[in-house]
Amino acid sequence: MTKQANQTKRETVNVLLEENRLFVPSDEFKRNALIRDESIYEEAAQNREAFWAKWASELDWFQKWDKVLDWQLPFAKWFVGGKLNASYNCLDRHIKKGLGNKTAILWEGEPGDSRKLTYEDVYRSVNKLANVLKGLGVAKGDRVAIYLPMIPEAVFAMLACARIGAVHTVVFGGFSADSLKERVRDAQAKLIITADGGYRRGKVLPLKETADQAAAECPTIKHILVVRRTGQNIPMQSGRDLWYHEFVDKAQDYCEPEPMDAEDMLYILYTSGTTGKPKGIVHTTGGYMTGVYATTRWVFDIKPEDIFWCTADIGWVTGHSYIVYGPMANAATQIMYEGSPDYPERDRFWKIIEKYKVTIFYTAPTAIRTFMRWGTQWPDGCDLSSLRLLGSVGEPINPEAWVWYHKHIGKDRCPVVDTWWQTETGCILISPLPGVTALKPGSATKPLPGVEAVVVTEEGKTIKEGGGYLAIKSPWPSMLRGIYGDDERYKKTYWSRFKDAYFTGDGAKIDADGYLWLLGRVDDIMLVAGHNISTMEVESALVDNPSVAESAVVGITDEIKGQAIAAFVILKEGNKPGEKMDETLKGHVAKKIGAIARPQKIIFTAELPKTRSGKIMRRLLRDIAEGRALGDVTTLADAHVIEALKEKYQEEA
Ligand code: PRX
Repeated sequence: MTKQANQTKRETVNVLLEENRLFVPSDEFKRNALIRDESIYEEAAQNREAFWAKWASELDWFQKWDKVLDWQLPFAKWFVGGKLNASYNCLDRHIKKGLGNKTAILWEGEPGDSRKLTYEDVYRSVNKLANVLKGLGVAKGDRVAIYLPMIPEAVFAMLACARIGAVHTVVFGGFSADSLKERVRDAQAKLIITADGGYRRGKVLPLKETADQAAAECPTIKHILVVRRTGQNIPMQSGRDLWYHEFVDKAQDYCEPEPMDAEDMLYILYTSGTTGKPKGIVHTTGGYMTGVYATTRWVFDIKPEDIFWCTADIGWVTGHSYIVYGPMANAATQIMYEGSPDYPERDRFWKIIEKYKVTIFYTAPTAIRTFMRWGTQWPDGCDLSSLRLLGSVGEPINPEAWVWYHKHIGKDRCPVVDTWWQTETGCILISPLPGVTALKPGSATKPLPGVEAVVVTEEGKTIKEGGGYLAIKSPWPSMLRGIYGDDERYKKTYWSRFKDAYFTGDGAKIDADGYLWLLGRVDDIMLVAGHNISTMEVESALVDNPSVAESAVVGITDEIKGQAIAAFVILKEGNKPGEKMDETLKGHVAKKIGAIARPQKIIFTAELPKTRSGKIMRRLLRDIAEGRALGDVTTLADAHVIEALKEKYQEEA
């Protein structure tokens, strides 16, 4: 452990030992908070449906609903019969209230260029693009794939789809051509919106080139609309490929928002499942908008003068809910940053906070742990005094990282909200209310009002204290409505483990004070730097290489990323293990899935330990990969070694 990490650990222990320290909200924070009274929990528990309906009615509806909830387990319909439009709620209604000149987006490009966009500016761009899409034959219900860097056009694209009732499916710009192709094909998208390229750590991501490779095998794609970002030369296929600016510049300024049924699809977002094929998570309009609108207020305490910054990419659900729909439904002013936190230097985030006087900052534990490693000199060199609230999302935050974040970024002044949720849940479900909840470092504290998240035993029995699985006992408005085109998989994945509760796939512990401690996934999904990657997905990418006969992948503990990927590989006869093969296979996975899935460690082996029923013994593999069973290994050439270990593990089990 480095000297700095040791010191942080000591500091943390001291902080935590002090009277079993709870971090209570300061009087000032409490006094000014939007939610400062814990009666909100009681109100929600008394009548959950009425509670959610009250929050839904803060949105603008073209037609009010007839019924709040129709629940035929596992299928929910919220605000039945209601009609609204998500882009109207994020734009038109603010402009009608005179907020057209309010800043919506303060965008900062990685090379240092910047753009400031008001709500009126975003509104105009969204309307124009909506007209372009219509002109290209995109109709209500059609799917549009968005494969863009973190530029304002990504927001325009999502809201333009929402405006005309098209369903967007955003694919993270770091995903490979194969991953993009798989998603476009599953969604049967008609059109891809991409850019010539995007900037990341000083380099150009060749987005259009990747989109071309994907589109070559996607017969449903009629057009590719290309935003000019980097200006590099790219081939444009005549008839299919169109420059975004050429069309948008000429388009009409207004496009009537489509009145969408509350249950009409708003988007599909793909997330890893325990099989190799990603799941297209379906979100609809009314319930989703209610969830993200309300939780943005409760958890982030957003007020008109705040400058909010969520550092997630728009390709993940965090970007959907807490850059686009939640903050914009609240008329927030926010930062959008294109690039990496260490470009040109390791203080880029802190420089942005200083420059724009960011008040609320929302990031991931993996980033916080990276900042810890880089050292406090980077944040210390910038003025962070504008900050008043900090958030964390994506994976469990260890107490050391929590305390470091609270102290070195929040200067012991800002509450830290550790927010638990999933692509499937649509909005935050477990989190402190910063003006109400006493915080315990490392705990996401309690379920939000109106959310019945519980810890259950293997048999599905709710427990008051102890460890088990995290489940949700009643429907909530922004819950997924299914897996696109696969109701059976939806039922099996989420609703078959327990009789009448949603299975999150996470382990959790509840303490004597009713605080929840999330313990990570209990299935074969890894959380690498907060990103869901299934072991199966990486295994199939490996066996796709002609040299590989078989593989088994496990997530191993990593100080920075939470988890890293270790792959056990059996090579086909005639192939040699070694550094070259190691590099080839790592590169192959990165090419097949994307750089986020690149294995950290490849261990060549002659055999894989399996149970009698043929199941891979992942616990043993994890112990080997983490050096517990065998010490550090890169090759397990002798099959007897595995046999001996297997027997030992079977005896222990
Ligand atoms: O394991 C949990 C972890 O991330 C998973 C959901 O991943 P995804 O769908 O990609 O959404 C991430 C952003 C919402 C969960 O099943 N997770 C997310 N937030 C937390 C967390 N684990 C612990 N604490 C959190 N705050």
